[in-house]
Amino acid sequence: MSNQIAFIGGGNMAYALSIGLLGADRPPSVIVADPIASQLDRFANSEIKTTADNKRAVTGADVVVLAVKPQIIRSVALEIAPLITHQLVLSIAAGIPLSALNAWFGEAVSIVRCMPNTPALIGAGISGLVRNTRTTDPQAELAHRILGCVGDVLWFGEDADLDAVTAISGSGPAYFFYLIESMIKAAIELGLAPEIARKLTLKTALGGAKMAINSDDDLEMLRQNVTSPGGTTERAIAIFNREDMQGTIVRAIFEARERSIELSQEADNDA
Ligand SMILES: NC(=O)c1ccc[n+]([C@@H]2O[C@H](COP(=O)([O-])OP(=O)(O)OC[C@H]3O[C@@H](n4cnc5c(N)ncnc54)[C@H](OP(=O)(O)O)[C@@H]3O)[C@@H](O)[C@H]2O)c1
Repeated sequence: MSNQIAFIGGGNMAYALSIGLLGADRPPSVIVADPIASQLDRFANSEIKTTADNKRAVTGADVVVLAVKPQIIRSVALEIAPLITHQLVLSIAAGIPLSALNAWFGEAVSIVRCMPNTPALIGAGISGLVRNTRTTDPQAELAHRILGCVGDVLWFGEDADLDAVTAISGSGPAYFFYLIESMIKAAIELGLAPEIARKLTLKTALGGAKMAINSDDDLEMLRQNVTSPGGTTERAIAIFNREDMQGTIVRAIFEARERSIELSQEADNDA
């Protein structure tokens, strides 16, 4: 990757992505723009250049990564749009659709919209990507390699697909944290020490996920393997079924997708 990559916004995602990029084969040149000097301090001991001037960062870049909060993405887009001539714009802002980005930057600009998730901050993320019609294959490949520095990458055909991605993998870490919190609460109520409750639960979550990833069996089979007839797991699962836990989870995820659609519509109204 012998390109120049500019990050607009020097927050947590920009940090994770830019440090990931430095570890790539033929690392690109990276510049991070953020108006708050203290945000740039943590880049000081790396090869990453920094500036308080967004326009300076954009000039000379091949890729401009929009890594600011969704609320200010419109003003940042309108500020730098006149300087976007040949650069690929890569947005990681949640809830900002390709249609709004196309309106702010103009239809002639190559744009990839990404929906990463928080495990990207420790290199274990998964991102959904969608490209506009102007994006070339080499630019898409570049976007793939940038997000690939912090986890897996999946491409989608439609902007609307990212509403489902947002509801599953974008919000998903919080669903797992909720389950983990609930199990830790139960363990403590059963009389286990908090640190033991936490360790037992977290290692079980990690082990379960690793087994599911590595096994050729489907999840139902893996579950049945733990569920002996007349045993303890069967008794617990019977309560989940009686309370329609699966239906509750599916309804909750549909609501999350609905909210993502609403956020996209709000951004489109602003475009
Ligand atoms: N964190 C995640 O795991 C995650 C997951 C999916 C999507 N995303 C998306 O990624 C984007 C960045 O998230 P984040 O967690 O990295 O946010 P963050 O830590 O708040 O970083 C945003 C950075 O942009 C700076 N900034 C504000 N106004 C600016 C301007 N006009 N020009 C340049 N920089 C400006 C902010 O400074 P101040 O702090 O001074 O405002 C902050 O340093 C968000 O849109 C979010 O939706 C994040």
